[in-house]
Amino acid sequence: MIHFKSVTDENINELMAIENACHTHPWTLKTMQSCLQGRYFNLAAFDDEQMIGFYIGEKAGPDFTLMDICVAPSFQGQGFAKQLLTQFIAYGEQHSAENLFLEVRESNTRAIALYERAGFIEMSVRKNYYPSDAPNKNGFEDAILMGMALGLNF
Ligand SMILES: CC(C)(COP(=O)(O)OP(=O)(O)OC[C@H]1O[C@@H](n2cnc3c(N)ncnc32)[C@H](O)[C@@H]1OP(=O)(O)O)[C@@H](O)C(=O)NCCC(=O)NCCS
Repeated sequence: MIHFKSVTDENINELMAIENACHTHPWTLKTMQSCLQGRYFNLAAFDDEQMIGFYIGEKAGPDFTLMDICVAPSFQGQGFAKQLLTQFIAYGEQHSAENLFLEVRESNTRAIALYERAGFIEMSVRKNYYPSDAPNKNGFEDAILMGMALGLNF
């Protein structure tokens, strides 16, 4: 049965296994540990006891940013990222966020489709923002900054 709960230091190794399987340039364990506290928040999806995906968010005043979202490769394409993203948006709404932001590699068409379906729109391009091993990228790749305004009550 699928259920959701926050990640702690106790199950961070499961999260890191998914992080490493999902990204060409994954965060280090140290970076991830620092993102489980303070102004950061997270949620993971579990199939019974097995972690299958997670998101990491950051609060900065009224602006909340989706820092990372991953679904384990064998569970992709089954709607779990959509569920996690819906929970991220709901968290922002429940905690009085005014704006949601995220950055995504320009080549990550799958993630961009996910964000657009949820209502995020492209705001700008950050040139050469990410390191890249892809040919013809000169070692870097552009980031697309996307955003969504919440609670616009005119
Ligand atoms: C991006 C990612 C999180 C999507 O996870 P997922 O669980 O497979 O996504 P879902 O099954 O919830 O699909 C949600 C939407 O994503 C898009 N999507 C999913 N699979 C897709 C595919 N194969 N091709 C194109 N779009 C796809 C679709 O818009 C889909 O909505 P739809 O089902 O209404 O068409 C997952 O591929 C992943 O972990 N990738 C590696 C990490 C990453 O790139 N994270 C995002 C940047 S930080």
